[in-house]
Amino acid sequence: MTQNAERRIVPLQPRHIAQVADIERRVFSDPWSESMLRAELENPLARWFVLESGGRVCGYVSTLDICGEVHVTNVAVLPEHRRRGIARELLRCAVDFARSTGAFSMTLEVRRSNAPAIALYRGFGFEPVGLRPRYYENPREDALLMTLILREDPLC
Ligand SMILES: CC(C)(COP(=O)(O)OP(=O)(O)OC[C@H]1O[C@@H](n2cnc3c(N)ncnc32)[C@H](O)[C@@H]1OP(=O)(O)O)[C@@H](O)C(=O)NCCC(=O)NCCS
Repeated sequence: MTQNAERRIVPLQPRHIAQVADIERRVFSDPWSESMLRAELENPLARWFVLESGGRVCGYVSTLDICGEVHVTNVAVLPEHRRRGIARELLRCAVDFARSTGAFSMTLEVRRSNAPAIALYRGFGFEPVGLRPRYYENPREDALLMTLILREDPLC
């Protein structure tokens, strides 16, 4: 886990659930509920990392490992904490963790209009590989599918 004087990244714990659910409601039109988040704590394939500052959750990233293909299921930073490198720190943590498990790739979906997130992912080397038409609701929008290859030898 990373740490500096003001903020640290730790795995999701039960004490974070209410704050993460609150951020979900503030940031997304289809938020994860507290019960969905609690279920993630029991899911051996899921990994959530939260960035805390002063005991408060500022952002988080989550992944799901499907046989070495790691899906980034969520990334969010509170609006008042954006543009300070928090998402980059969180995604770095998720990518490093995926690499450490021997995963061969990471994938994600993102709204086509979500320029900040697409720029974030491109900065890590994620490349657009396809579209999922009308994937999102509220509002309806296509998803851009992006992939980051971690290993070129997936059969080894
Ligand atoms: C996307 C999001 C997670 C970025 O969080 P953040 O902590 O502000 O991002 P960072 O400060 O770490 O920025 C890292 C890079 O992302 C890109 N980026 C972030 N915000 C951006 C913006 N508003 N416009 C353009 N690029 C942006 C830049 O490339 C940035 O690097 P730079 O600062 O060197 O230019 C945040 O805006 C957010 O929570 N959005 C709502 C939830 C969301 O859309 N999640 C993604 C779902 S797929």
